[in-house]
Amino acid sequence: MENKVTPWEVSGKVDYEKLIKELGVSKLDKKLLERIKKHTKELHPMLKRGIFFAHRDLNWLFDEYEKGNKFFLYTGRGPSGPIHIGHIGTWMFTKWLQDKFDTELWFQFTDDEKFLFNPKITHKEVEKWTYENMLDIIALGFDPKKTHFLIDTKHASLLYPEAIKFAKKINYSTVKASFGFKDSMNIGAIFYTSMQAVPAIIPSMLKNKNIPCLIPLAVDQDPHFRVARDVYPKLGYYKPAIIHSIFLPPLTGTDGKMSSSDPNSYIALTDTPEEVKNKINKYAFSGGKDTLKEHKEKGGNPDIDVSFQYLRFFLEPDDKKLKKIEEDYKSGKMLTSELKSYLINKINIFLAEHQKKRKLAKNHINKFIFKIK
Ligand code: TRP
Repeated sequence: MENKVTPWEVSGKVDYEKLIKELGVSKLDKKLLERIKKHTKELHPMLKRGIFFAHRDLNWLFDEYEKGNKFFLYTGRGPSGPIHIGHIGTWMFTKWLQDKFDTELWFQFTDDEKFLFNPKITHKEVEKWTYENMLDIIALGFDPKKTHFLIDTKHASLLYPEAIKFAKKINYSTVKASFGFKDSMNIGAIFYTSMQAVPAIIPSMLKNKNIPCLIPLAVDQDPHFRVARDVYPKLGYYKPAIIHSIFLPPLTGTDGKMSSSDPNSYIALTDTPEEVKNKINKYAFSGGKDTLKEHKEKGGNPDIDVSFQYLRFFLEPDDKKLKKIEEDYKSGKMLTSELKSYLINKINIFLAEHQKKRKLAKNHINKFIFKIK
């Protein structure tokens, strides 16, 4: 199958080396990891394990940082359904960056985007998911004093006057080519990239001085910024730096990414322990062999095994334990059923904690939503 990566569709087997070339981004190499480590003292497992694999302008960002020009973070969420474990890697890493660099985070909820791009969804439904998703984001532990939520339609008086400045400098032919839009695309969708571009300048605009911006994202979001990048300097701002992650594979296999439209393809943060157990046991694609005998003789393949990949992404942060699991699985000592029950346990411990914090988050939403002065 042909592979495809756009902000709205990821299908086929993703070739990340090829993507680096196509997007014109840089590989996150050892030298740069060392540079990050100089400031953070340790490397996040997602950096060590290549989950974050590419970047734009990170060296520039650290040049500025080392001169005392601190950056802020910007990322976001399109609220069209429940948040699942495929989404949160980027945000857990973002929280780590917030803690390590003591930075502000601007977090955009693109209710306009999800309404415009999903033919079936109503704006009421998107509003409901915006609220639900905010609870999950808060539960991840961001600092309320340093984290500002922007909701596109609610913060329109702040965002829209800036969005039109981007929109005026981006041609239809550019977005058409970048995203593969057909002429039948609605005109709101064509405009949307200019809304996603804006939060990267908001702090600079509000403080009336240029502040560097770092955007952690899953690589499918890069094309928006690729389109907008040339515009930032034209409006008098820095181009934002970006750090790109790969996708957590869907339960059903290593192609594409987890999709909110297929509940069997993901573990939602609101799933019960029973649901987690059933989904993993029933749907998690296995790199194990067909028979017990064959598995014990030849061993499994962790590279295509979804359960192993989830552990590698973030559910087993301990490098030594992960290595042991990998070796035991490869040698056939560890069975698929054992690997799955290890993962189920890890997910359920994580979710129990998350769901507790999610309940508490209801009382804190107002601290996170940015107040326009
Ligand atoms: N478009 C993203 C989504 O569909 C949401 C988003 C908005 C975002 N701004 C962002 C993601 C900046 C990464 C970085 O989920």
